[in-house]
Amino acid sequence: MCGIVGFTGVEQAAPILLRNLQKLEYRGYDSAGIAVECDGKIVSARAVGKLVNLIEQTEDGKTITGTCGIGHTRWATHGSPSENNAHPHMSNNNKFAVVHNGIIENYIALRAELTELGYQFQSETDTEVVAHLLEYYDNGDMKATVMKTVSRLQGSYALGIVCSDHPGELYAVKNQSPLILGVGINEFFFSSDVTALITHTRNVIYLDDGEFAHITKEGIQIYDEFGKEIQKKISRIDWSLEDAEKGGYDHFMLKEIMEQPKALKSAVEPRIINNVINLSEMGLSDDDLKKIDNIIITACGSAYHAGVVGGYVIEDLCHIPVRVEVASELRYRNPPMNERSLLVVISQSGETADTIAALKLAKESGIKTLAIVNVVDSTISKLADGVLYTNAGPEIAVATTKGYTTQVAVISLFAVYLSKLTGKISDEYYSELVADIKSLPERCQRVIDLNTKVEKLAKQYYNNQSLFFIGRNIDYAVSLEASLKLKEISYIHSEAYAAGELKHGTIALIEPNRLVIALACYEKTFDKTMSNIKEVKARGAKVLGVAQEDNKRIISEVDSTLFIPQITPILMPIIETVPMQLFAYYVARENGCDIDKPKNLAKSVTVE
Ligand code: F6R
Repeated sequence: MCGIVGFTGVEQAAPILLRNLQKLEYRGYDSAGIAVECDGKIVSARAVGKLVNLIEQTEDGKTITGTCGIGHTRWATHGSPSENNAHPHMSNNNKFAVVHNGIIENYIALRAELTELGYQFQSETDTEVVAHLLEYYDNGDMKATVMKTVSRLQGSYALGIVCSDHPGELYAVKNQSPLILGVGINEFFFSSDVTALITHTRNVIYLDDGEFAHITKEGIQIYDEFGKEIQKKISRIDWSLEDAEKGGYDHFMLKEIMEQPKALKSAVEPRIINNVINLSEMGLSDDDLKKIDNIIITACGSAYHAGVVGGYVIEDLCHIPVRVEVASELRYRNPPMNERSLLVVISQSGETADTIAALKLAKESGIKTLAIVNVVDSTISKLADGVLYTNAGPEIAVATTKGYTTQVAVISLFAVYLSKLTGKISDEYYSELVADIKSLPERCQRVIDLNTKVEKLAKQYYNNQSLFFIGRNIDYAVSLEASLKLKEISYIHSEAYAAGELKHGTIALIEPNRLVIALACYEKTFDKTMSNIKEVKARGAKVLGVAQEDNKRIISEVDSTLFIPQITPILMPIIETVPMQLFAYYVARENGCDIDKPKNLAKSVTVE
């Protein structure tokens, strides 16, 4: 949610800032801006809409000279996506320019105070107060000015600051929003995400909350919140450049769908040693886990849907109560937790505001917490007692695909581990499950090979304006994700419904030619779902049935079918979701949608 970048070095800053912002555009794309310091002046350019508008306006950055600057790509929170609300924001004396990701929670009070002092506001944003505070506290000592300003702020912020009185210098401040420094040779960077840095350097420094950096082309000094200089470790990014590029695909989403066998391999393979699941990296001991008698899983969006699958799987294998709740609800609910509870949070980015809040709530109650996260060293991974990384590699498309399937794989792996540890499953069943988990990459490839068939189905059904996904048990869990995927990238209305619930009201919406996608892969409930298919067919619905390849009985009951390879039921969601991702992708493509950057969305939702 908003991306910020900074550069200081010997090359021209504007083209570099624009290129780096392109890598962060997935975080927000309703407006963008850059500000560059040149000969004791700050020159800025801002444009509404996607970054390409700013690139055109500045002729690829060539119209702005200077070797030190900051940039921003926005997902509007305070104020509409207008040029005035776009970052960078300037102080009234035009000395300071600021970019910001996060929310300044006390901005209304600060705005009133600064207005009283005579400062003129140009925007409706929360960020602009920072620019005016910098001017207000400016005493010529930039470090002191930044510290005084930051001491007035409440909320979450990653800030990038440039000042015309301090040529070639940047300040970057982190509190509860991601901020990473890039260490080059005679050139230094900051960014909300490593993807913007890897074309320049693989050496990065992850700032922690409260820390700030003074960056020049000679080097970086890092300070703690009290202004004491500290030394931080330089980490090496091991993602390859290709991971962050489209690699010949039309969209990141399609590339990431196709990468799922590889991602699943990285998620499970290192954790199975001699056919035994090894989670020793997790940070929670077997003794900790043996004490657990109830689990709360929380997350947002697709990660929540991965949690819903996890809920079914853990209950089935471990026979303990599992509550699955969206984080934005859980955090305000005072959920019962005790010393035998485990809170599991799931997040691709590791920065989702509501998930972080729910995690903090659990930590305050003193219960054990486990995070299933993709982004290494993210806020969530640092906060939780235990971490299992999903190892999916960078996910750029706003709609998650490999992020989700690897989350399901890891929580399933955890469920199998816990059930064995607590003696809930037999050795034979354990071995069978481990073998099936190992086969996930290969089976996933087999569903990806259905690509052409799914594309044909999408061409057949792309102009339906409202449809239902139905299923029971884990098929229902998958239908939640299938429906979200379709909605978010194709803007077609769809609802996921527990198949057995239809007749309690919603069946009133079934009318001739209404498309129903019936997920009937879970063997135990196959016959029941078939009855629900008959009910909607009797009312004129068109049905696309999705079933395991040996369940040919479905053919006579539906209008079209998609058969997927068999796998043990608890792992079915991973295999079943992939064709639904492809279906959403091709439907969106047929409808001419901007697949990687759907309207109103942004990846990494760092605001509540
Ligand atoms: C949908 C999607 C979102 C995220 C949600 C949580 O395709 O990507 O629903 O799943 O915003 O994000 P993370 O996993 O980063 O916490």
